[in-house]
Amino acid sequence: MRKMTEKNLNEAFAGESQAHMRYLIFGDVAEKAGYKNIARLFRAISYAEQVHATNHYRTLGMIKDTEDNLQVAIDGETYEVEEMYPVFNEVAKFQGEKGAEMSTHAALEAEKIHAELYRKAKESVKNKKDLDIGDIYICSVCGYTTVGEAPEKCPVCGAPKSAFKKF
Ligand SMILES: [Fe+2]
Ligand SMILES: [Fe+2]
Repeated sequence: MRKMTEKNLNEAFAGESQAHMRYLIFGDVAEKAGYKNIARLFRAISYAEQVHATNHYRTLGMIKDTEDNLQVAIDGETYEVEEMYPVFNEVAKFQGEKGAEMSTHAALEAEKIHAELYRKAKESVKNKKDLDIGDIYICSVCGYTTVGEAPEKCPVCGAPKSAFKKF
């Protein structure tokens, strides 16, 4: 692919990805405020942005088989754990930004677990097997991730068991 087109598609992928996420968040806000149809509109258009992002990503040749995709996921999570979030967290502390300090700390803790789970998944795929994993629970407050059963209290943010979403 020509360089300029590649750069444009990467920018479009980033923009559509952010719009997808932004609209999901806005949809939840609208839902809570009682605007059911506006929530539905946000979610529908969020899905359209996901389709656009997927098409750009595919055109860039970034969608591979699951083993390769897991390696991309491992690399991303590892970068977040080893470089990005520790540095972001220090900067937040240095600048006295309490909210950012908390959100980067919570993300760092979860990404460690994500990297590990993806590593296990890749091992399984190498042996041509699906991952042997039980229920996956995500804290809806901070994103803490655990497998098997939800804890009584989130170890990262203290949210109760009822705040966990099962996958
Ligand atoms: Fe993650
Ligand atoms: Fe939490």
